[in-house]
Amino acid sequence: MLRIIRPCLSLRSFGKEAGRRWHRASSTNDLIENMDKKATWDRFYTENSKGTFKNFEWFFGFHAIKDCILPLLQTASTTDAPLYVLDIGCGTSALGPCIYRYSECAVKVTCADISPVAVQLMQEHAENMPVQPCNPSSTLVFQELDCTELERHFGPKSLALIVDKGTTDALVRSKKGQEKAGQIIRQCLKLLRPSGNLLQFSDEDPDARLLWLEKESRGSEVAAEVGVHEIGEIRGVTYFCYQISPCIPQL
Ligand SMILES: C[S@@+](CC[C@H](N)C(=O)[O-])C[C@H]1O[C@@H](n2cnc3c(N)ncnc32)[C@H](O)[C@@H]1O
Repeated sequence: MLRIIRPCLSLRSFGKEAGRRWHRASSTNDLIENMDKKATWDRFYTENSKGTFKNFEWFFGFHAIKDCILPLLQTASTTDAPLYVLDIGCGTSALGPCIYRYSECAVKVTCADISPVAVQLMQEHAENMPVQPCNPSSTLVFQELDCTELERHFGPKSLALIVDKGTTDALVRSKKGQEKAGQIIRQCLKLLRPSGNLLQFSDEDPDARLLWLEKESRGSEVAAEVGVHEIGEIRGVTYFCYQISPCIPQL
């Protein structure tokens, strides 16, 4: 069952909600078509940063999906060495900071976004309201980064977990974002450890997303296994967790 954390937004309600909050002069279609563009998100986070800082959650917050995330980390942690975790397109979500805070095993969490506005807001908030992680060896950083260039920033087979809440959804629904979303998946597969996982939290139906994921991972140098489970329903919209992991070669 999902617990909703404010304020949250789904791409299906994007038209009504974000269109109202955001740039009144722009047409909603124009906004949706441009969700792969840095300028679109800079404008979005600038508009939403007025007043006291609040995390902006796409779909839902950490607590709705913590059971998909924390057990995976616990299983992956076989030594004292920290696990590398990446949130791609973190925006101003509390997902990455909550993984840092609640993971019992040591994690090095990077929250990456193409929007410097989002990254700066997150950085300032973390400095103003520091939290103690469960594991004293855990670290948290925010980084301005175009996730189509992940390979320039992370080593092959270095990441234990990559989380993506709404970022691939935004890219695949924008006019020119499909190719970028495919690039991101293929790079994620190279950067994940053999036992690592990419989790995509999405409102896209499995009929469409699984076909797309299978097509994109076929074009990857690293073979992948793809699975899905239903997370739950909010206001008539069903949400899914797509789990993509590199195939471990059979000996
Ligand atoms: C739908 S929002 C989701 C934000 C956040 N994950 C959440 O759950 O609230 C999509 C995010 O992806 C970011 N984004 C879009 N293209 C990107 C890219 N190429 N590299 C990194 N971030 C990107 C946007 O700036 C935006 O913050």
